[in-house]
Amino acid sequence: MSQSGTLTAKGSRSCPEARAAGTVPAPVSNCIFREHFLLLASLINKMRKIWKWFVGGAAAGFALLQLTNPSRTNPTMVAGRDLISSQQPPPEIAALLHAACYDCHSDETRWPWYSRIAPMSWLIANDVRGGREQVNFSDWPTDLPGRAAKRLERMSEEIDYKEMPPAKYTLMHPEARLTAAQRQALIDWADQSAAKLKAMVKDP
Ligand code: HEC
Repeated sequence: MSQSGTLTAKGSRSCPEARAAGTVPAPVSNCIFREHFLLLASLINKMRKIWKWFVGGAAAGFALLQLTNPSRTNPTMVAGRDLISSQQPPPEIAALLHAACYDCHSDETRWPWYSRIAPMSWLIANDVRGGREQVNFSDWPTDLPGRAAKRLERMSEEIDYKEMPPAKYTLMHPEARLTAAQRQALIDWADQSAAKLKAMVKDP
């Protein structure tokens, strides 16, 4: 087994070789420690390389994602087609609607800085598209009181059921969090406005 026999306790050969040679390096614990240390060092080195690739890949992927950002549109508004100018709510109601609904339900969206960054940009653009599709306060049916009344009733319901404004929105927009009293004020205003519009439909 042992070949040259020149191996000494202080020899610079690695531990496995020393063991194979039948020499017991002194002190033994020192040798084991060195063996483990080298193993650990090479492992850390490998992990570092993997980590570098990982971070590099993630950064490149993130950069590429940014090319997919949807456009942030605010279509030009038509004068007089707005809910507030047509319905003329009291100022405190108008302020609540602006704070809690207009970002998704109008063409006056205040796009936050993070709406430029994928993947948030997709979620936000999707909410704005979905919101405008359902009810667009910038495109209020000013000449159709029956339709306007229906929208107000739906608004009242959504606020009452606490479906609107969505929780994910109020999480990021504390100014849109409605107190119970604010909710009730919005509901009362929407119900009363709907009733008035309906009366207009009945006796023109
Ligand atoms: C974060 C964006 C966002 C905000 C803020 C928001 N909405 Fe919505 N809203 C939506 C989306 C998206 C839809 C369509 C999908 C759905 O019904 O969840 C919608 C749907 C609606 C609907 C139609 C529901 C139906 O099914 O008939 C009404 C009415 C409505 N919202 C009222 C409001 C009112 C009132 C506020 C403010 C108090 C408000 N929304 C705030 C995104 C929003």
